[in-house]
Amino acid sequence: MKILSKNICVINHPLVKHNLAVLRDEKTDGEKFRCALRRISYAVFLEASKNLPTETKKIKTPICECENDVIKNDINIIIAPILRAGMMFCEVAQEMMPQAHIHHLGMYRDERTLQPVWYYNKISEAPKNPKETYVFVLDPMLATGNSSVDGVGNFVKKGIPQENITFVCLLAAPQGVERLSSVFPDVKIITCSIDKELNAKGYIVPGLGDAGDRIFNT
Ligand code: URA
Repeated sequence: MKILSKNICVINHPLVKHNLAVLRDEKTDGEKFRCALRRISYAVFLEASKNLPTETKKIKTPICECENDVIKNDINIIIAPILRAGMMFCEVAQEMMPQAHIHHLGMYRDERTLQPVWYYNKISEAPKNPKETYVFVLDPMLATGNSSVDGVGNFVKKGIPQENITFVCLLAAPQGVERLSSVFPDVKIITCSIDKELNAKGYIVPGLGDAGDRIFNT
């Protein structure tokens, strides 16, 4: 893992790199793409969730009593996939944090302006205890940063501290990292690579193409 700044982490584990190569390859079909994405997601969410608060619990094993840390019981965990490409990420995140609430963030990118257009937002009420709420906003691709700023902004507006919010992606463009971290400097960004640039259509270069199309065979 490479920490580029206090809040930007690039996971460079060999298994992550290996699976990233599978994802980037244009010859990888939908089934293999989804398998590689799933494998990578476990590494990504282990890293993304490593600062969740824990408490000590007494446990009786078949041998004796002991103490073991567990995720604090009274915290609220929100997994917020940006539709649609965030959905596959979400499956693994939910498997690893089964107590989490899922908030779908429906937005697509206007191809002309590259701005997000909202069509669904399932976050209506402010969380009861924002300081004890931890949010993971998911989108495999951090490209322009426009959707990520909107997605994260939703939770900041509800009073959730930026320090409790993590943006999780597979690939990032330098522009996206710069934009998200300049608007929300205390939000953590977890990615597997910061690629070279964005092209004129807002795609990450070299990237992996359209993540949603490759996951959903569209
Ligand atoms: N969304 C994608 O799916 N791919 C990109 O390269 C950028 C945004």
